[in-house]
Amino acid sequence: MQTAAKPALRYGKFEINTPVVLAPMAGITNTAFRRLCREFGGGLYVSEMVTSRALVERTEESMRLVGHHESEDIRSVQLYGVDPKTISDAVTMLVAEDRADHIDLNFGCPVPKVTRKGGGAALPWKQDLFASIVQAAVKAAGDVPVTVKMRKGIDAEHLTFLDAGKAARDAGVTAIALHGRTASDYYSGHADWNSIADLRESLPDVQVLGNGDIWSAADAIQMMRQTGVDGVVVGRGCLGRPWLFADLQAAFDEYQRDPNSNANISPVQPNLGEVADAFRRHTELLIEFFESEEHACRDIRKHVAWYFKGYPVGGEFRASLAQVKSLEHMDEIMSSIDRGAPYPGDEAEGPRGRLGGSKQCSLPERWLDSRELVGDQRKMLQEAELGVSGG
Ligand SMILES: Cc1cc2nc3c(=O)[nH]c(=O)nc-3n(C[C@H](O)[C@H](O)[C@H](O)COP(=O)(O)O)c2cc1C
Repeated sequence: MQTAAKPALRYGKFEINTPVVLAPMAGITNTAFRRLCREFGGGLYVSEMVTSRALVERTEESMRLVGHHESEDIRSVQLYGVDPKTISDAVTMLVAEDRADHIDLNFGCPVPKVTRKGGGAALPWKQDLFASIVQAAVKAAGDVPVTVKMRKGIDAEHLTFLDAGKAARDAGVTAIALHGRTASDYYSGHADWNSIADLRESLPDVQVLGNGDIWSAADAIQMMRQTGVDGVVVGRGCLGRPWLFADLQAAFDEYQRDPNSNANISPVQPNLGEVADAFRRHTELLIEFFESEEHACRDIRKHVAWYFKGYPVGGEFRASLAQVKSLEHMDEIMSSIDRGAPYPGDEAEGPRGRLGGSKQCSLPERWLDSRELVGDQRKMLQEAELGVSGG
């Protein structure tokens, strides 16, 4: 008799059998993309980040970003904020209005305009502030599970993940996800999976998730083995490849059945026609999300290079699709392709999305002098939430 695999992740009352989380990605992981990915496999699919302030102000954009489709059974929202009170108000609103089943807090943004004001990945350096934001969110969330997502720290000399991880655990979070890079690393090099193993080891009593450079199901299983994490967070690897979640599901099914097996699966290898169909379906879902065919067609343009990476479609096809105006126009452009063209192999795999080189992290003056907020830093921080895309 086969015994059922134990739930891989537990978020409050939810059991998530496939320990895979779709990484929040601004401008990408809206309801449309989440729905598309979920059609391929199990896991938890998190919204792109929404700023707590925009949410409290109920801006039209933020309300759209926290929306979910009825088929999304765990409504997962990522919040970004710099102020405990505003975070608390945003979480209170999400919970009171029954808009979320899980709330993730983003402490990993490396963008200079955010870190320069002390926000994003610069924030956990201020231990008191970090702890009070997480505590405020957990308190306001009640039974709704809260998780945090962060980077290793500011740079190699100013690491924050171990003490921030402990503070988050002590505040009562459900899980901690670590992207194995510092803010200065940006997206360069390879994510440091050893840091993920270190966090896992230092926090045996809370779920730890690993993030960074999972481009295939084999990478995901490799991270599980190498770091001992409870689950993986997958970002850029699924851009233009929502079927990666089918591979992840298959590999984890095998891994959960027998952790010693090599979890060798036959990955999905779509031909060109299948890629074109997924691209079109993505656009249809975006039309529902934006309630505008024109807006959806503008938005899908950024996905063209990812979907068709490695396929023999030619420059003219790519250029036309990058200016697509309507579904009818899309069909016309796509009618020229050889739908039977097979999966191109390695050409279609590997890194995609942001790959920027390392750069020194921009910080407010004297930010590193103290791990407490001093002087008018609290006031300055308010600006670290303005002008951030996310609602
Ligand atoms: C286009 C893009 C947008 C992102 N937006 C967010 C975001 O809104 N919130 C967040 O926590 N991380 C964001 N990230 C970081 C990812 O969630 C993830 O941590 C990072 O890409 C590393 O994982 P990967 O190697 O699997 O891509 C973003 C990354 C990309 C490429």
